[in-house]
Amino acid sequence: MKKRIVLALLAAAALCQPLPAEEGMWLPVLISQRIEDMQAHGFRLTAEDVYSVNQASLKDAVVLFGSGCTGEVVSRDGLLFTNHHCGYSQIQQHSSVEHDYLKDGFWAMSRSEELPNPGLTVSFLERMDEVTEAVLRGYDASMSEAQRDSVVKANSDAIVKSVADPDKGIRARVEALYYANQYFLFVYKVYRDVRLVGAPPSSIGKFGGDTDNWMWPRHTGDFSVFRIYAGRDNEPADYAADNVPYTPKRFFRISRAGVKEGDFTFVYGCPGSTKEYVTSDEVRYVGEVSDPEKIALRTQRLDIQKKYMAQDPAVRIQYSSKNANVANAWKKWQGEAKGIARLKTVAAKQAYERRFEDWARGGRYEGLTGRLAAVYARRNPAYRAYEYYTETVRTVELLQLAGNVKGALEGKRPVAPLAESFFKDYYRPIDEEIFVAMLEAFDRHMAPGYKPEYFKKQLAAYGSVAAWRDDLYARSLFTDRARVAALTEADLPQVLADPAWELYDAFYQWYRQDLQPVIEDASRELRLLYRDYMRAQMEFEPGKAFYPDANLTLRVAYGHVAGYSPSDAVHYSPVSTLKGIMEKDNPDIFDYNIPQALRDIYAAGGHEAQPVCFLATNHTSGGNSGSPVINADGNLIGINFDRVWEGTMSDIVFDPDYCRNISLDIRYLLFVIREIGHAGWLFDEMEFAD
Ligand code: ARG
Ligand code: ASP
Repeated sequence: MKKRIVLALLAAAALCQPLPAEEGMWLPVLISQRIEDMQAHGFRLTAEDVYSVNQASLKDAVVLFGSGCTGEVVSRDGLLFTNHHCGYSQIQQHSSVEHDYLKDGFWAMSRSEELPNPGLTVSFLERMDEVTEAVLRGYDASMSEAQRDSVVKANSDAIVKSVADPDKGIRARVEALYYANQYFLFVYKVYRDVRLVGAPPSSIGKFGGDTDNWMWPRHTGDFSVFRIYAGRDNEPADYAADNVPYTPKRFFRISRAGVKEGDFTFVYGCPGSTKEYVTSDEVRYVGEVSDPEKIALRTQRLDIQKKYMAQDPAVRIQYSSKNANVANAWKKWQGEAKGIARLKTVAAKQAYERRFEDWARGGRYEGLTGRLAAVYARRNPAYRAYEYYTETVRTVELLQLAGNVKGALEGKRPVAPLAESFFKDYYRPIDEEIFVAMLEAFDRHMAPGYKPEYFKKQLAAYGSVAAWRDDLYARSLFTDRARVAALTEADLPQVLADPAWELYDAFYQWYRQDLQPVIEDASRELRLLYRDYMRAQMEFEPGKAFYPDANLTLRVAYGHVAGYSPSDAVHYSPVSTLKGIMEKDNPDIFDYNIPQALRDIYAAGGHEAQPVCFLATNHTSGGNSGSPVINADGNLIGINFDRVWEGTMSDIVFDPDYCRNISLDIRYLLFVIREIGHAGWLFDEMEFAD
């Protein structure tokens, strides 16, 4: 009797206890090493279902979208989902005053209305193979690093050449993993006729804008729909009107069953870059120097932009995309720095390094962490100056224009289009104010040894940055749209004598001479030391599963639906609904002004519980945007598009309590296509699992 109660209690506990969160972004080809754990967490498919070169597998339905996002195939006619923010530039390119697809959305009502996007590609991973032996063939330990590099390069080039077939769209790359302790060959088939099928209005696809970016509760309908086209043989082809929809080896079926806390989730996509195995010195630099300084500089820039944007709707449009770009990393860094501090990652890594050195004593890895520390000590002042330079002087738009125009003239490229696109979105008062704020910050925060001589001389001559600014903007030809547009090669001497070019170039030369050599030397040494340190960490902890840092190659991240507590007495539940959109709705706030159609649908009733987004514990990073989120049966339940800012240190250290990825609930996508897009014809080709 007692025993039965205990068992029942245990079973009940197992039912309501969420499963432990999962750190890691795993290589699909090695998924057999994780599959048991995935299955223990609820996954019902096999390793072969996830990745196989012998049969169609889930990997055949996932693509690298463009060069920095992920997408997934959802029909046997090559229909593709990704994020709105991933298709943004394509949607923008098709937009004009008469057809403002960004604002109003776009829906093809038949295949003939789908819009081509020159330059856009999607890449399917054909296979990935470990090629470490072949890449290192001919290398022996007596060789110098330079010799090793040339062996690696020659072997890699030969491997790539033996498999790549540009005519057939087959591209190949050899990628170094685990700090070049292993090499993998990735073979891709690249399709280049990819057409826009649909996009919601930005007031849905970008709902919440930068106010809600990196945040929960979130209500962004961040999706867009494309279709892959192929030649009649189903192979990659240049755009042609008579190309046919691509027939995939595999596509995702869609689950409408919905998600709840604890459900298994699997994100299959291409995270861009992480550094999980670095030393305490790197983490300290990021968390205590780089992030806080860059955040402070960007706060100043954002405030200046916002001040003018609030005064004039035209300026607001001009700077909305620029402002969003500046704000995106700005917000991410805040979460990263806070997370590193909260987790005491520097101290934790220091303790780890002490244990490591105890273990390494007397062996070949002894003193490795100290050698790494010495390189950082040498690198950091120069690296900090470089970062300061990129976040200050390089952000002044007039100087950027001077640099670009000079490059175009020398490269014999036309200047008029450059001038056209620059001045369309240029507001000089913003730029002038940023010039002063950024150069003053540079002056205040850089030690004299880390300032260009030119900068010191000019500043001394002018007496203040403001006086320098007044003179520069008064004299520079680059403030004059017509003059810039009319520049030809014959005007190069005039450009070279311009005060904007002079300033731009003086800083660049300083960077080239004073900073770059130090930084590059240090990077080379770090690369070498990290190769040892990575291998050493694997030997130090033989029982631990090490996933390779992200590098935009295909990865598997599994976890489960889960809320989180960002601070004391606050708990977030993991599913947001249409009701929340209505709570935020406000015609006077740009980020929260929803389409009238959505208000009307809601007012008609019955949609309060319509799910919109959900949180899970998958370990994702930039590049995972657009990734399919899959349930235990391999069916599509969502599209990944963001993380919560409190967990963005996951690129360096993963914390199961705070790290959450944010996904669009696939049922909201279906709702928007049906109710807002009236493009229900697309459902005919989708397959629904339930
Ligand atoms: N934070 C997401 C990512 O890093 C979305 C960015 C686009 N959205 C925006 N409001 N800026 O890419
Ligand atoms: N929003 C990111 C992306 O565009 C995803 C992330 O950083 O979590 O890839």
